[in-house]
Amino acid sequence: MKHEMYQVNTGSVSLLHLLATAVSCSDYSVNMPPTLETTHGSCIFIPCSFTAKDSSVRSPATGVWRKGSQWFKDGVDVFNSSKRQNKLHGKILGDLTQGNCTSVLYNVTRDYEDKYFFRLEWGDEKVTFPENVLIKVNDAPPKPHLSSPQPLQEGTPARMTCAVASHCPQDPPTLAWSPNLNHSMETLQTKEDGTQEVISVLSLIPSHWEDGLNVSCVATHRLQRQGSISFQETVPLTVLYGPKNLSVSLNTSRVGMGSPVTLICFGASNPPINNYRWFRDTSGYQEEMDWKYQNVTFNVTSSTTGTYHCEGRNTVGASNSSRLQLEMPASSHVKPGWWLLGGCILFFTIVAAFLCHRHKKAETQQQRGRRPEHTGRVADHSIYINVTEDTLCRAASAPDEPCDNVYCNQLPPNSIRPKQRDFLSQTDDAIYANH
Ligand SMILES: *[C@@H]1O[C@H](CO)[C@@H](O)[C@H](O)[C@H]1NC(C)=O
Ligand SMILES: *[C@@H]1O[C@H](CO)[C@@H](O)[C@H](O)[C@H]1NC(C)=O
Ligand SMILES: *[C@@H]1O[C@H](CO)[C@@H](O)[C@H](O)[C@H]1NC(C)=O
Ligand SMILES: *[C@@H]1O[C@H](CO)[C@@H](O)[C@H](O)[C@H]1NC(C)=O
Ligand SMILES: *[C@@H]1O[C@H](CO)[C@@H](O)[C@H](O)[C@H]1NC(C)=O
Ligand SMILES: *[C@@H]1O[C@H](CO)[C@@H](O)[C@H](O)[C@H]1NC(C)=O
Ligand SMILES: *[C@@H]1O[C@H](CO)[C@@H](O)[C@H](O)[C@H]1NC(C)=O
Ligand SMILES: *[C@@H]1O[C@H](CO)[C@@H](O)[C@H](O)[C@H]1NC(C)=O
Ligand SMILES: *[C@@H]1O[C@H](CO)[C@@H](O)[C@H](O)[C@H]1NC(C)=O
Ligand SMILES: *[C@@H]1O[C@H](CO)[C@@H](O)[C@H](O)[C@H]1NC(C)=O
Repeated sequence: MKHEMYQVNTGSVSLLHLLATAVSCSDYSVNMPPTLETTHGSCIFIPCSFTAKDSSVRSPATGVWRKGSQWFKDGVDVFNSSKRQNKLHGKILGDLTQGNCTSVLYNVTRDYEDKYFFRLEWGDEKVTFPENVLIKVNDAPPKPHLSSPQPLQEGTPARMTCAVASHCPQDPPTLAWSPNLNHSMETLQTKEDGTQEVISVLSLIPSHWEDGLNVSCVATHRLQRQGSISFQETVPLTVLYGPKNLSVSLNTSRVGMGSPVTLICFGASNPPINNYRWFRDTSGYQEEMDWKYQNVTFNVTSSTTGTYHCEGRNTVGASNSSRLQLEMPASSHVKPGWWLLGGCILFFTIVAAFLCHRHKKAETQQQRGRRPEHTGRVADHSIYINVTEDTLCRAASAPDEPCDNVYCNQLPPNSIRPKQRDFLSQTDDAIYANH
């Protein structure tokens, strides 16, 4: 039981030495992790408990941390709870009379990396436990560990967890998320082996915006000797979502009668769309086309007119695209702008004619009134591509060009990632129809 005394008095008698150790093992035992790690200049929290079978520990009791060896001769007592001055500042946090020897040692430097033994002294009893803890002193503080269930499903609540070891209960590291997607909860938790860690839980409802987003957890440690230092771990989010913002576009800006045209169905999704369907509306009748691919090519003829849309499907879901109208008017077309101009001229002419008639000059004025009808004439076989009514209005006011072609000023889509959304919103713009 009194190892110290055996050792001091009978240091050369190894048999007694062994015997003493054997006795101590059965009567006393201490429980602490075999290894602990800390950072140079930081403190170390040592979870520790012991049992003293036959005798209960009375107050006042002294706790000593001995470095290097169980024996006084070979070790160094770095901390003695009954002394004011110690090699290392420290504190016995636990209640020794309850068998709790949990301790903290401050300002641990690299020189203090070693095995540590706990020694208990109360009344006449003195015991140094044979079990020890190896304290490793690292140059850098611990890095955070970020865990996230991946892939995330759009709209399904998810939790991301960031944890970092806390060696120093007085000064635990802080955790922060970047970008800060939602309020997070930070707690100091005790692990099974008694060591502590700071945990931050981020709850989020993933949206497709967050697909591909890099999320970081930053751990900031304040060191007793070196200021503060931060480490981060970054995880790219994968958010699965069904096809979104599907639209049909043309691969070309200029479509001519009889020339090939390629319709492209594109939008954003993760995973990529693996199944396409195409539909065409012609005068209220809808048919599903015999096309299974993202891009379809055909020659423009009178029988290819209609309103096209596609359906895209991936493992998450399906959606339909906006509509693209491919039209080939059978007869002449007059642009609304000209009708308006013609109408205005006609109106004022009639008013003028009416006024003139009252002044008996009706015949000459009515001659001028027919002029607009000639300017309204356009060539046959023109094609226009119409995405929205709004487009049509703008197309109508576009500069006139004598051409049988359609100018469809769309850019070819080159990607279906969400980053293309700016482009997607522009595709309806800038379509010029000419007659
Ligand atoms: C711890 O300090 C007390 C008070 O100074 C002293 O009586 C005791 O012997 C010390 N223990 C060791 C192991 O040095
Ligand atoms: C030992 O003491 C520490 C510090 O007061 C405390 O956190 C821990 O819960 C105690 N352990 C037990 C087993 O009571
Ligand atoms: C740790 O060491 C620094 C610098 O030597 C000192 O200012 C600080 O008070 C010490 N902290 C403790 C808890 O001993
Ligand atoms: C933010 O977190 C709370 C729970 O902490 C959760 O109820 C809420 O839905 C989350 N909001 C978003 C937008 O993820
Ligand atoms: C996320 O991080 C990786 C690796 O650092 C980088 O290659 C990628 O461009 C980042 N993604 C975004 C959206 O910033
Ligand atoms: C559009 O696709 C058709 C068929 O593949 C091709 O002949 C034509 O050159 C393409 N136009 C452009 C501008 O890429
Ligand atoms: C389109 O017309 C060209 C001749 O202009 C012809 O060679 C080609 O086979 C046609 N393509 C289709 C898909 O009908
Ligand atoms: C897409 O449109 C077609 C035809 O109108 C329809 O049958 C289909 O159910 C639509 N798909 C979705 C996902 O709404
Ligand atoms: C469809 O056309 C787009 C734009 O030209 C191209 O990026 C894409 O690779 C094509 N897809 C297929 C399946 O050919
Ligand atoms: C779809 O378009 C809407 C409106 O332009 C935009 O808010 C949304 O982010 C787009 N979605 C994707 C996946 O690009």
